[in-house]
Amino acid sequence: MLDYPTPHIQASPSDFAPVVLMPGDPLRSQYIAKEFLENARLVNNVRGVQGYTGIYEGVPVSVMASGMGMPSMAIYSYELYHAFGVETIIRIGSCGGLQDQVKVRDLVLAQAASTDSAYADRYDLKGSFAPVADFGLLQKAAALAQLNKMPYHVGGIVTSDRFYEEQEHLPPTERNAALWKRMGVLAVEMETAALYINAARSGKRALSVCTVSDHLFTGESLSAHERQTSFNEMIELTLQVAKTI
Ligand code: HPA
Repeated sequence: MLDYPTPHIQASPSDFAPVVLMPGDPLRSQYIAKEFLENARLVNNVRGVQGYTGIYEGVPVSVMASGMGMPSMAIYSYELYHAFGVETIIRIGSCGGLQDQVKVRDLVLAQAASTDSAYADRYDLKGSFAPVADFGLLQKAAALAQLNKMPYHVGGIVTSDRFYEEQEHLPPTERNAALWKRMGVLAVEMETAALYINAARSGKRALSVCTVSDHLFTGESLSAHERQTSFNEMIELTLQVAKTI
């Protein structure tokens, strides 16, 4: 156990529900709390990273932002798992599509998260660790997406340390996105591998659900309005998962 309050979360364990939804953006965590939770109260606001706990269909649920990138997600998920008694974290984010069948607005349920980051190297494993989702959470999310007729994909994603790759000097087939695409990876984002690695190391559960906000090969992207509606659908799906665990 880690002592609380932590450097980044000014709260006590009783302030958090056992399950936390994590969007990247603090304004989105405020939006989820206000629009989807009953009796939501602010439980953290260190660095403006708003965390709320409220009730969804009778079940306590917390929501707090992860910030962008693996180090930020790693800090918040570590503190939630180790100091605040959180058992399950569900990331709700956006990703860039890589495969032809992965269209903007589709949902990607991250079964595994490959990464170009060195985060897992610190464990000194004699090999590379494969960060994976909790199967129970993944199964529930897929079943609900199927039931609600939401276009979704289950498979591997890649968690990258870079948003701006600066590989214009390379032929398109040799750039990172093309190489990951050849491995069948569905999409790219920047947080999931840290979450899955922390969950594994602490014996806790995690799932990452992302909406495809843009496509790296077709150049398509969601409008602001589409982002909001697809985000709402993703919130409802993940709250349903959170409710039944
Ligand atoms: N790269 C990394 N992260 C992302 C992207 C992307 O193209 N789109 C949404 N999140």
